[in-house]
Amino acid sequence: MIDLAHKVAIVAGGGRGIGEATAHKLAAAGASVAVVDVKPHRAERVANAIEKTGGRALPMKVELRNDDEVRELMARTCRELGGIDILINVAGGLHSYAKWDRMATWSDEQWDDAMERNLRYVFSTCRACVNVMLDQGRGGTIVNIASLSAQRAASMHSGYGAAKAGVANLTMSLAAEYGADGIRINAISPGSILTPATAAVNPPERIAEYRNLVPLARIGQPDDIAGAAVFLASDLAAYVTGQVLIVDGGASIAFPLPLPASST
Ligand SMILES: NC(=O)c1ccc[n+]([C@@H]2O[C@H](COP(=O)([O-])OP(=O)(O)OC[C@H]3O[C@@H](n4cnc5c(N)ncnc54)[C@H](O)[C@@H]3O)[C@@H](O)[C@H]2O)c1
Repeated sequence: MIDLAHKVAIVAGGGRGIGEATAHKLAAAGASVAVVDVKPHRAERVANAIEKTGGRALPMKVELRNDDEVRELMARTCRELGGIDILINVAGGLHSYAKWDRMATWSDEQWDDAMERNLRYVFSTCRACVNVMLDQGRGGTIVNIASLSAQRAASMHSGYGAAKAGVANLTMSLAAEYGADGIRINAISPGSILTPATAAVNPPERIAEYRNLVPLARIGQPDDIAGAAVFLASDLAAYVTGQVLIVDGGASIAFPLPLPASST
C-alpha cells in the first residue's frame, strides 16, 4: 500500500493522458495534487474529478516553457498546498507542425521547438523545484517522463528522441548531484501508450496490430505509466535514484520478426 498522505505533488502536464492518470493515482494515495496544464479547462476537469472523489487538488494554468510562470507555479503550490514533495514532469510531444518528418526537412525553429517542449522546460521545472526542496530541507522526489525514443531509434523521431535522451541524462546528472540532499530523481520511458494524443494519429487497426509486437500483447494505458510514476515517487523506491525505467509491455526486448505459429 502506497501512502502519500501529507505529501504535496505537482503534475506538470496533468490535464489529460498520462498526466491525468498520474494525478488521479497520486491523489488516491493521499497526496495533495497541483494539476498543471497550459489548457486550463483540462486542469480544472481533472482537479474537479479528484475533489469529487474526496481528494485535494489545485488546478493551475501554466505555460511550462515560460520560466516566470514556472517560478510562480512553485511559489503558489507552496503557498496554497504547504510545500512541494513530488514533481512529475509529464508534458511533452511535438507541435503538430513538426509532423514527425524526416530530419532533412526540419527547420531550425522546429528543432528548437522540440527541445523547448521536451527538454528545456524539464530543466526549468527541476531547477525551480530543487531550489524549493533544498530550502525546505526535507528532501523530495522528481519523476521525468522521457520516452522509449530516449534509448531506441526510430525514423521520424530525431528531434523528439534527442530531447528525450537529454531528459534521461539530465535525470541521471541531477540524481548524482542531489542524492545527498535527500532528493531522488528518476525517469520513465513509456512505450506506446493509448492517450488522446496517440489516438488522434493512430487508426484503430494500427492500435489493434500493436498487440502483435508486444510480449504483454496489448498497447499500454495511461494507468500503466501512472503506476510506475507513483511507485518511483513513493518510499517503496527509497533506494532508487537516477534510473530510467522502461515501461513498454516488453516491446523493447522483443525480437522484431514475426515468430512461427506455435505447434501446441
Ligand atoms: N503516449 C505515448 O505513447 C507516449 C510514449 C512515450 C512518451 N510519451 C510522453 O509522455 C508524455 C505525455 O504523453 P501523452 O500522450 O499523455 O500526452 P497528451 O498530449 O495526451 O497530454 C499532455 C498534456 O500536457 C499538456 N502540455 C503539453 N505541453 C505543455 C506546456 N508546455 N505547458 C503546459 N502544459 C503542457 C497538454 O496540454 C496535455 O494536456 C509526453 O512527454 C510524451 O512525450 C508518451
